[in-house]
Parts: sequence; structure tokens; C-alpha cells
Amino acid sequence: MKKIVVLSGAGVSAESGIKTFRGSDGLWEKYRIEDVANYDAWLNNQALVLEFYNQRRKQLATVNPNEAHYALAVLEENYNVHIITQNVDDLHERAGSTHVLHLHGELTKVRSSVDENLIYDIGYNELNAGDLCEKGSQLRPHIVWFGEMVPKIEEASTLLHDADILLVIGTSLQVYPAAGLIHDTPNHCRKYLIDPGSLPVSGISNLTVIRKTAGEGVPDLVKQLLNEKSI
Ligand code: APR
Repeated sequence: MKKIVVLSGAGVSAESGIKTFRGSDGLWEKYRIEDVANYDAWLNNQALVLEFYNQRRKQLATVNPNEAHYALAVLEENYNVHIITQNVDDLHERAGSTHVLHLHGELTKVRSSVDENLIYDIGYNELNAGDLCEKGSQLRPHIVWFGEMVPKIEEASTLLHDADILLVIGTSLQVYPAAGLIHDTPNHCRKYLIDPGSLPVSGISNLTVIRKTAGEGVPDLVKQLLNEKSI
């Protein structure tokens, strides 16, 4: 089976009703995302950070995967598909994708603030001050904040080393190291970028840019890829 790797960003979930980060106002309650999603905010204003992620979880419980998420799950019928997502939502999984690597963490999990290996499912519930891990420390959102290491970046890069096809969907490619992953594919790898507002991407060969929303562009491309495979 040929291997398809997908690198997805906030745009793939936009048509499910989750706002992108760098969209029109890009603000939450007058805060920039960079000011809430970072370790200093956690140290200096824990209540604000907990409330931000409680609201994100609550919203996630009310939204559903869209046509793009579902189409990517169908690709698994004929390809070895791995999704690397920058999104912290669980919409790829809920649509049926089985290999999903979350580069920036997961909203439905929390972890110990003293032992990063103590990770717990919280689903769509609230995390509050005083909720402790088994070692007695405050639980924190299982999110990679600005300024923190991205522990899964090596694993993601390795997935790309033998990719036959790369689909980059709904990401502004502004945030590193995730954005650099598009350079980790082998020479023969065909690449597609699906994003209605994509900026010019330089230094990438074999690239087709599809300026459509994920909900429009992904199902069409998936159909094409499944037909190709059956020829
Ligand atoms: N379909 C596809 N793409 C879309 C759609 C849509 N319906 N709507 C918007 N987009 C595109 C925008 O054109 C933009 O290029 O999605 C992209 C969203 O970009 P960002 O908001 O910057 O989101 P993303 O690239 O995922 O951000 C990366 O930054 O804030 C951090 O950790 C956070 O994972 C996030 C990372």
C-alpha cells in the first residue's frame, strides 16, 4: 500500500465551527492565543488558562467532524494513512481515522504538572484548580504551549521519510517546528496543499496548491486518489 501522510491545521476543523487561530480577529476574550497558551500564563494566571481550555472542551462537545475529516478516514480503505495534526480537537478520530498523531496535544486529556508521563482522559469535562494527579500536583491541560518542546516532532518527521503522498490541509504554516515538516519528505513524494488562503510556499517541489476549503477540496482529492489506486 502507498503511504499518505496528512499534516492538518485549524482550517480542517473550521467548517465544523472551530475558529482558526490567525483568522479575522484571532482573539479570545481580548487575549491573543499566544498570551493564553503559554507556560508563563499558566504560572501567572492559572484561572484564565483553565477557563480557556474548559471553554474549548465544552465547545468541542458540541461540534462534529466535517466532510474533510470523514473523507480522510475513507482514504484508509486503499492507503496506509497517517495523520499528523496540529489540532487539539478529536475530530479526526471521531470521523474514523485510526493513526492520528497530535503534535500540539489533546484537549480531552490532562496531565500531571510534575510528571509528564502521568496523562489522564478528561473527555469534555472541566479541569479545575485543586484537581490533582496521583502524585498530588495540580493537573494541567495536555497541550503543548508556546515556548514548550514539541515531544512528538521526531516521530512526525520519521513518518514523513517514506511518504509517497503528503496532504497539507488548513494550516498557515507559521508555527515551527510543525511547519518545517513539509521539508522532510523524500524526493518522489507528491504534495498537495489545500487551503483557501494559503500563502505562497517556496522551496517545495512536486506541489499542487488547491485553493478551496477543506470541506470542498478534500473529498474531491480523496475521490481522485482512490480512483488512481483502483486503476
Ligand atoms: N478549509 C481549509 N483551510 C482553511 C479554512 C477552511 N474552511 N478556513 C481557514 N483555513 C486556513 C487559513 O487560510 C489558514 O491558512 O487555515 C489556516 C489556519 O491557520 P492558523 O489559524 O494559523 O492555524 P494553524 O496553522 O493550525 O496554527 C498552527 O499555531 O496557535 C498555534 O498551536 C496552535 O496548532 C496551532 C498552530
